[in-house]
Amino acid sequence: MSIFDVLHDRKNTRSVKWDNLEPVFQSTDVLPMWVADMDFKAPAAVNDALVKRAEHGIYGYTVIDEDVKGAVINWVKHRQNWTIDPDWLSFSPGVVTSLHMAVQAFTEPKDKILIQTPVYTPFYNVIKQHDREIVKNPLVYENQSYTIDFADFEEKLKQGVKAFIFCSPHNPVGRVWTHDELSEIARLCLKYDVLILSDEIHGDLVFKGQHQIPIATISDEVADKTITCMAPSKTFNLAGLDASFIVTTNEEKRKKLNTLFSKQGIGGLNAMGNTALEAAYVHGGAWLDELLTVLEDHQKYVSEMFAAHAKELKVIQSEGTYLLWIDCSELNMDDEELKNFMIQKAKVGLNPGIAYGDEGKQFMRMNIACPRVTLEEGVNRIIDAVSNR
Ligand SMILES: Cc1ncc(COP(=O)(O)O)c(C=O)c1O
Repeated sequence: MSIFDVLHDRKNTRSVKWDNLEPVFQSTDVLPMWVADMDFKAPAAVNDALVKRAEHGIYGYTVIDEDVKGAVINWVKHRQNWTIDPDWLSFSPGVVTSLHMAVQAFTEPKDKILIQTPVYTPFYNVIKQHDREIVKNPLVYENQSYTIDFADFEEKLKQGVKAFIFCSPHNPVGRVWTHDELSEIARLCLKYDVLILSDEIHGDLVFKGQHQIPIATISDEVADKTITCMAPSKTFNLAGLDASFIVTTNEEKRKKLNTLFSKQGIGGLNAMGNTALEAAYVHGGAWLDELLTVLEDHQKYVSEMFAAHAKELKVIQSEGTYLLWIDCSELNMDDEELKNFMIQKAKVGLNPGIAYGDEGKQFMRMNIACPRVTLEEGVNRIIDAVSNR
């Protein structure tokens, strides 16, 4: 039996996904398939390293040494073909924190910041909470797939956009952007002098035939205009350990960002995050390869099951991430009805698409990073509910 088939009881572990059902779904009787963490154990090497660290029993201030930086550099080189200089690295508790900091460091109140909707909900907050203005470049949805409307993108940049928060790969629509798409984004951002804040947290989670290309690798000029946020947290299920990093090739920008981190008293990695990040990047490659085959298989299963037994639900073919974006418009329900239907009738806890913007109306997002039996249970609950509605 594969390690990805093992069922783990996550209840009573202070898990947001499993222990926070009542406030989120007003019910504890739902199978949680929502927030983006996995029901799999991290690679054994990560757990071994953490146990060893815990056995030492002293948790004093922690340094990020050359070994840790080397682990990051090797990983990014081998997985994404990007050669990073150790000086370009900054460390942060999380990607959302990094985005908050970058928005404050490089833009001013009332500045326009562009996002491609529907998109990861905190992108909206990162803009609104600092009194910046959201500018939307909605993705084009056609034939159950998503592309970028470049004419609209350019039109919006022309209106004086300062920064673009880029989701690459894209949560929730599951796109892994091609070299052509990245080049065109980069060309337009250079033309209109727009800073790219590239959230590449899902960058390791791309399926066969897809290649994750960090937008900063398009050219040195593009790298100069880009702040790239990466992390082992989605890849290896380490979100609770608060470990991520930022790559900024431009020295002036890097200093500005690091100064702001320092002013807020945020910096470094905690003792466990530091340990887990290194172990994951040094030893986690084979684990990740196996995970990706499991996730791809899960996606296929959900698509085929719905196509055969709940034709009203269209699964958007995902190129990466463990989040499936499901078009439920043929159920002819409004958003409230759809949400209640999934909770009360199907008894599954999914993320309502509307949470990602108006463009997500009548969609639901399903987290498929769980053992197959859990996935089958969730899928069958939905099929039964759709069949008996
Ligand atoms: C696109 C994206 N960015 C950032 C995050 C969260 O990052 P962190 O936990 O490092 O703040 C998520 C989590 O789902 C995500 O999907």
